[in-house]
Amino acid sequence: MIKKYMKTICVQGLGYVGSATIAALSNASDINGNPLYNIIGIDINSKDGLERISNINKGIFPFGSQDKSLSKAILKGKKEKRIFATTEISYFDRADVIVINIPLDITWDTKEPYINFKKFKNAIYDIGNNMRENALIIVETTVPPGTCEKVVLPILLECFNSRGLNIDGLLLAHSYERVMPGPDYLDSIINYWRVFAGYNKRASDVCEKFLSSFINVKDYPLKKLSSLTASETSKVIENSYRAVNIAFMEEWGLFAESVGLNSFEIIDAIRMRPTHNNIRRPGLGVGGYCLIKDPLFGLLSSKQLYETEELAFPMSQLGININSNMPNNNLNRLNLYVGGLKGKRVLVLGATYRSEVDDVRNSPSEVLCRGLDKMGASWDIHDPFVDSFENLNKDFLQEIPAANKYDILILTVDHNFYKEFDFLDWVEGTKIIIMDTNNILTEELCKALVSKNFRLLITGRGDLK
Ligand SMILES: NC(=O)c1ccc[n+]([C@@H]2O[C@H](COP(=O)([O-])OP(=O)(O)OC[C@H]3O[C@@H](n4cnc5c(N)ncnc54)[C@H](O)[C@@H]3O)[C@@H](O)[C@H]2O)c1
Repeated sequence: MIKKYMKTICVQGLGYVGSATIAALSNASDINGNPLYNIIGIDINSKDGLERISNINKGIFPFGSQDKSLSKAILKGKKEKRIFATTEISYFDRADVIVINIPLDITWDTKEPYINFKKFKNAIYDIGNNMRENALIIVETTVPPGTCEKVVLPILLECFNSRGLNIDGLLLAHSYERVMPGPDYLDSIINYWRVFAGYNKRASDVCEKFLSSFINVKDYPLKKLSSLTASETSKVIENSYRAVNIAFMEEWGLFAESVGLNSFEIIDAIRMRPTHNNIRRPGLGVGGYCLIKDPLFGLLSSKQLYETEELAFPMSQLGININSNMPNNNLNRLNLYVGGLKGKRVLVLGATYRSEVDDVRNSPSEVLCRGLDKMGASWDIHDPFVDSFENLNKDFLQEIPAANKYDILILTVDHNFYKEFDFLDWVEGTKIIIMDTNNILTEELCKALVSKNFRLLITGRGDLK
């Protein structure tokens, strides 16, 4: 299937980032509109891996998304016979560029969290043992700073040496994704700023040329950093900054709740100041794949890669702890408000870790539901984007049932579907208690509900009686 006159890109890891990268590469074209690349997606022989491979081979984007341009791009590549996916690692030998989008997880079930590099290292061996000289390798996986130089490079050098390849043909770069699954999923790759660094000048130049072939660098110029470690660090700081910012506002949300303030009113006022316009808001908590782990990468880098134990990263650690407590804080507040959750029938609206995505990884709603179980409440859950929590063996409601089946409604995710839902009409004739953990109900609706004597509990607000 490979078109010989086109360059071939291998994408290792076909998850939320890798699959979207394939879509972006499929759309890349020269000035005459001719497609630039053959793309080979490589994943592992697991349930998820095989499902993703099978979808891509059918021309389907493997995740539910409102952004239909992803499926369109993959279908285009498939119809033009330029895209396929496989578990066969020998295909790395076809690649001019290899993009790494596999996970690197933290192990939590030990005394101290740590990173087991074993699977990640094996994946790098898969590449090193099969790739050609002069193929560019770009690590996009979020890694503890120092990973490229201290883990990836030595493996590749070992493979090159054992295979008798020329070390001058080893081109390693790091460039991280800022992809945002949601309505602008594909756009967040193509029309967005990108940071990169190469191991040496040649790697950096080849990486710059490759990124410029599918990113709109005219409007979103690339930012080149001086080393692989600088680029890795930049990504980790970005995500740590966001996680700590959320944790910081959590404590002010609790303050507002306890002294009768509306923290959203205050935050809107602060956001008018340009230096503070990205201050976060209180909510249900932090989920997804990245923000719950990346803030620990500084600490784990200094411990495991640089062995400088004295760097404790207290703020990042505290941020992670505060954020992980948020679902239970919400639940405890609700428990007090309703005089005990035992025996209560609860409807939860929203399961994903953020709005307009189908991703339930580390979902705060799941933590909330586990807490409801512990407190003796029964619960049903609905989400317009997902059908089940696999971990909880719980099927979701397909539609929002009548309000009179429940004592309590908890709104958790600000999907547009809920923002547009007519809650005033839905609650009519019931005594349902409403908790909004994500600022989903408009001020007007809150006032209307309060005027009709509904009991309303809003995360970050203590002003509604
Ligand atoms: N999800 C996001 O929004 C996002 C944004 C920016 C950066 N990132 C980072 O990008 C990386 C990937 O994230 P993701 O959300 O796509 O993860 P994911 O879990 O959705 O996908 C990873 C894929 O890699 C596959 N894989 C694992 N080992 C492999 C191997 N040895 N060879 C080939 N495939 C292998 C898995 O089967 C899976 O399909 C992570 O480092 C993440 O932190 C994620």
